[in-house]
Amino acid sequence: MEIKTIAFPLHSDKRGALVAVEQLKDIPFEIKRIYYIYAVQPGDQRGFHAHKTLDQVLVCVNGSCKVLLDDGKEKRLIILDKPYEGLSVPRHIWHEMYDFSPDAVLLVMASDLYCEDDYLRNYNQFLTFVNGK
Ligand code: TYD
Repeated sequence: MEIKTIAFPLHSDKRGALVAVEQLKDIPFEIKRIYYIYAVQPGDQRGFHAHKTLDQVLVCVNGSCKVLLDDGKEKRLIILDKPYEGLSVPRHIWHEMYDFSPDAVLLVMASDLYCEDDYLRNYNQFLTFVNGK
């Protein structure tokens, strides 16, 4: 499985750092929604689903977390700990997020609005979906 990370333009100077992210340039889709996850309690896990049509890019804008990506054949573990690095999580990839640092803020840019029907929340359902396609 190919892991695609995206280096966002970083503008650092003596006043601090600024990261700019533009749709269709830094992100391979039009951004229709952003959401962010924070205040995850130690030991808690998030995700545990895949999407039928949604593409996403994750960036841990503060702190760190781990992301497990699974295409149904292969699993890869990625540590997100750079506010200027995005991780592409395209459709049909099962993803699990865990080991959030107490200060972690995980920002997600998504290609569409929230739609519960787009979720594959059961792992066996996910395997059937990806193996049948
Ligand atoms: P959930 O899918 O459980 O989050 P995670 O992927 O981190 O495990 O979503 C938590 C709740 O938030 C659930 O009730 C659905 C809701 N939600 C929205 O209303 N809009 C959104 O864009 C997202 C991602 C979730």
